[in-house]
Amino acid sequence: MIEAKGIQLKYPDGTMALNDLSFTVGKGELVYLLGPSGSGKTSLLKLLLGLEFPTAGELRVLGQAITKRETNSIRILRRKIGPVSQEFNLIKGRNALENVMLGLRILGIPPGLMEAEAKKALARVGLEHKYYSPVENLSWGERQRVAIARAVARQPKLILADEPTGNLDKDNALQVLNLLASFVNEDTTVIITTHATHLMRGIPGYRCMELNQGIMIRDEKGCRPH
Ligand SMILES: Nc1ncnc2c1ncn2[C@@H]1O[C@H](COP(=O)(O)OP(=O)(O)OP(=O)(O)O)[C@@H](O)[C@H]1O
Ligand SMILES: [Mg+2]
Repeated sequence: MIEAKGIQLKYPDGTMALNDLSFTVGKGELVYLLGPSGSGKTSLLKLLLGLEFPTAGELRVLGQAITKRETNSIRILRRKIGPVSQEFNLIKGRNALENVMLGLRILGIPPGLMEAEAKKALARVGLEHKYYSPVENLSWGERQRVAIARAVARQPKLILADEPTGNLDKDNALQVLNLLASFVNEDTTVIITTHATHLMRGIPGYRCMELNQGIMIRDEKGCRPH
């Protein structure tokens, strides 16, 4: 699923965001990526999405090499990845259903099927009663669930959630973490960056990877949160 060998990410201004990381992540794993602000979590997710390229080392995601020369194939790889961000990145003035359908457009499937898949995804996150609500009328927790529906509607092999609980209160954050964990299956891997380690307790079977100043200082299965 993911193979990283000695990867480094040095930004053009000289910042060493990631330094000599080697790890593999298999199919069906649930991984929490932890670490203080500035430790490199978002940078690592950007590499996995092919939005940045390793400045040293080798990275393969779903068999695809992440290098500058492979940008066309990386565009195709991104169809198999569902990204979720802290800011939701929803389009205002459009309803929940339209927002989720926009996430399916790149797949080039017929409009009828696109609508059916989008409705299914919204129902999966408990928003079947909000298909036609403009996103700006939704609560923060509901908006994050629309963003998750948009990410999962394309049935991605890899879900990458960057601080998905950052804008949520405790109850909504817990609901979102549980929801994301529920998408893990033998074919789907979920990676979540979060500061909300106190909320992870109730979620079984996960792996923690912790970064500090771009270095992996912890990688263990079934870790205990701090
Ligand atoms: N485009 C960029 N150019 C230069 N430096 C960058 C760039 N993006 C991030 N950085 C730096 O790389 C380091 C890692 O940043 P990153 O955003 O990956 O951290 P993070 O762990 O996601 O932090 P947070 O928890 O605050 O989101 C930081 O020192 C940051 O300032
Ligand atoms: Mg970040």
